[in-house]
Amino acid sequence: MKKPACVELRNSYVIGIISIVLILGSVGVREAECRVARRKHQKNLEYSAIDCRKHSAVLTDFGGIGDGKTSNTKAFQYAISNLSHYASDGGAQLIVPPGKWLTGSFNLTSHFTLFLHKDAVLLASQDESEWPSLPVLPSYGRGRDAGEGRFSSLIFGTNLTDVVITGNNGTIDGQGSYWWDKFHKGELKLTRPYMIEIMYSDHIQISNLTLVNSPSWFVHPIYSSDIIIQGLTILAPVDSPNTDGIDPDSCTNTRVEDCYIVSGDDCVAVKSGWDEYGIKFGMPTQHLTIRRLTCISPDSAMIALGSEMSGGIRDVRAEDITAINTQSAVRIKTAVGRGAYVKDIFVKGMTLNTMKYVFWMTGSYGSHPDPGFDPKALPNITGINYRDVTADNVTYSARLDGISGDPFTGICISNVNIKLTEKPKELQWNCTDVEGITSNVTPKACALLPEKEEKFECPFPEDKLPIESVQLKTCSV
Ligand SMILES: *[C@@H]1O[C@H](CO)[C@@H](O)[C@H](O)[C@H]1NC(C)=O
Ligand SMILES: *[C@@H]1O[C@H](CO)[C@@H](O)[C@H](O)[C@H]1NC(C)=O
Ligand SMILES: *[C@@H]1O[C@H](CO)[C@@H](O)[C@H](O)[C@H]1NC(C)=O
Ligand SMILES: *[C@@H]1O[C@H](CO)[C@@H](O)[C@H](O)[C@H]1NC(C)=O
Ligand SMILES: *[C@@H]1O[C@H](CO)[C@@H](O)[C@H](O)[C@H]1NC(C)=O
Ligand SMILES: *[C@@H]1O[C@H](CO)[C@@H](O)[C@H](O)[C@H]1NC(C)=O
Ligand SMILES: *[C@@H]1O[C@H](CO)[C@@H](O)[C@H](O)[C@H]1NC(C)=O
Ligand SMILES: *[C@@H]1O[C@H](CO)[C@@H](O)[C@H](O)[C@H]1NC(C)=O
Repeated sequence: MKKPACVELRNSYVIGIISIVLILGSVGVREAECRVARRKHQKNLEYSAIDCRKHSAVLTDFGGIGDGKTSNTKAFQYAISNLSHYASDGGAQLIVPPGKWLTGSFNLTSHFTLFLHKDAVLLASQDESEWPSLPVLPSYGRGRDAGEGRFSSLIFGTNLTDVVITGNNGTIDGQGSYWWDKFHKGELKLTRPYMIEIMYSDHIQISNLTLVNSPSWFVHPIYSSDIIIQGLTILAPVDSPNTDGIDPDSCTNTRVEDCYIVSGDDCVAVKSGWDEYGIKFGMPTQHLTIRRLTCISPDSAMIALGSEMSGGIRDVRAEDITAINTQSAVRIKTAVGRGAYVKDIFVKGMTLNTMKYVFWMTGSYGSHPDPGFDPKALPNITGINYRDVTADNVTYSARLDGISGDPFTGICISNVNIKLTEKPKELQWNCTDVEGITSNVTPKACALLPEKEEKFECPFPEDKLPIESVQLKTCSV
C-alpha cells in the first residue's frame, strides 16, 4: 500500500502536501524520502520568488476538476481559505496542475503563492454570477465602463502582504470576447473585470505567466508597494477594447521587467486616479522602473503616463525598451482638471520600428469622470528626459501639445536618430506650449526645443531603487 502511494505522489505535482501529513511518524519519513526522490526527478520544477512556502497543496485536493467545463470557483475559494490558516506558519503554495481550470473570481491571501504548471490553463468564466461586484475605486469615483460599481477581477487581493502569482509559463485566459461584445453593445451595468488586481497590499510578485484575452486591463496593482512584475507574455487582439497590459496605479516601488505585450491599448499605463477623486485621494505612482519591455500596439502607446494621473506620477525610469508597429513610445496624456504632476521621468535606450509618433505629449486628453472637475486644477508636467533612441519607419517625429498658460517644461531629448516612412508628414516636430532642449537629434527638433551648441546627454539616475536590489529565492514545487 505504501510504496504505490509514493509512486503516485511522485507522478503528481504535490510537493509537501500539507505538513500535517509529515507529522504522522513513519508515514512522514517515507513521504520525506519520496520528496527527495521527486526532487531528483523534477529538478526543473523550480521557480524564483520573493519568498518560498513551508506548506503546499494541489487544487485537486480541494475538489478541482481540470476538464475545461466544471467550475472551480468554489475549489479555489475553499483551497485559499484553507491555506490562509498557514500564513503565520511559513505560508503556503497552491499548485494548479496541467489541465483546463474554468473559474470565476477568487480572492488571494497573505504569505501565499499561486503556482501554475506550464500546461495549466485558468479559463475565466463567462457566467456573470461567478463574478461578485465591488464598490468603485475611491481615486476614480466611478467605474471606467459604467458609473455604478464594478466586477471583481478574476484574481483579486486586498489588504495583503507577501503574495506571489507565478508559474513555468502557465496560462490565464480571460476569455474576453464575451465582455468586449457586451462593452461594444453598451450592455454592461458594471465595469468589466480586470484579470489580476491587487489593492492596498505590499510585497507582490507576478511572474512567468502567459496572460491572454483579459476582459479589460490585465494586471492592475493599486494603492500598493514593493511589486515585482517579471517575465509576463501578455496577448490580446490589437483591436480589443481597453486591454492595457500592466497598470501600476498609485503604487510605490515597482519593478517591471522582461515582459512581452501585444494588446489593444497601452502596453504599460502608469496611473494615479482621476480628476477631483484622484486629487482628493492624493496617492502618487512613484519609484517605478521598467526594463526590457517589448510592445506591439498599433493604436496605443508602449508606455503611457496618464491619462489618469491626479495623484501625481514621479520618478519613472524606463530602460532598454522596444516597440514595433506601435502608435507612440513613452506618451504623456493629461488634461485641465487632472491637477497634480508628471515629473522626473527618465527614458534611456529605445528601439522603435513602424511608429506613428516617436514623441507624443497631449495636454487636452479630456475624458472626465463627470462635470465636477475643477477647471483650475492644472497638471504640472516637468523634468521629462529621453536619450538614446533609434527609430525606423516613422510618420511623425513628435507631437508635443502642452496646455496654454501651463506649458510642459524641462523637456530634454538627446542622441536620437529617426528614419522616416516613405511618405512622411511635412511638419515633423509639431510643438505648442512646451519648453526644453535637445542635443544630437535627427530630424532637427522644433524651435521650442532648441539644439544646444555643446553636445550633452540628458540625465538618467545612477542610483538604484530599493526594489531593484531585491533578490529572489529559489523555491521548488
Ligand atoms: C522566469 O523564467 C526565467 C526563464 O525560465 C528564469 O530565468 C527566471 O528566473 C524566472 N523568473 C521568475 C521570477 O520565476
Ligand atoms: C485543509 O484541508 C485539508 C485537506 O483537505 C484538511 O485536512 C484540513 O483540515 C484543512 N484545514 C483547514 C484549516 O481547514
Ligand atoms: C473578496 O474580497 C472582497 C473585498 O474584501 C469581498 O467583497 C468579496 O466578498 C470577497 N470574495 C469572496 C469570494 O470571498
Ligand atoms: C484595507 O486597507 C485600507 C487602507 O489602509 C483600509 O481603508 C481598509 O479599511 C482596509 N480594508 C480591510 C477589509 O481591511
Ligand atoms: C511563454 O509562452 C508564450 C506563449 O506560448 C511564448 O510566446 C513565450 O515564448 C513563452 N515564454 C517562455 C519564457 O518560455
Ligand atoms: C512602414 O510603416 C507603414 C505605416 O506607416 C506600414 O504600412 C509599413 O508596413 C511599414 N514598413 C515596414 C517595412 O515595416
Ligand atoms: C512644477 O514642479 C516643479 C518641480 O517640482 C516646480 O519647480 C515648479 O514650480 C512647479 N510649477 C508649477 C506651475 O507649480
Ligand atoms: C500641430 O498641432 C496642433 C495642435 O495640436 C494641431 O492643431 C495642428 O493641426 C498640427 N499641425 C499639423 C500640420 O499637423
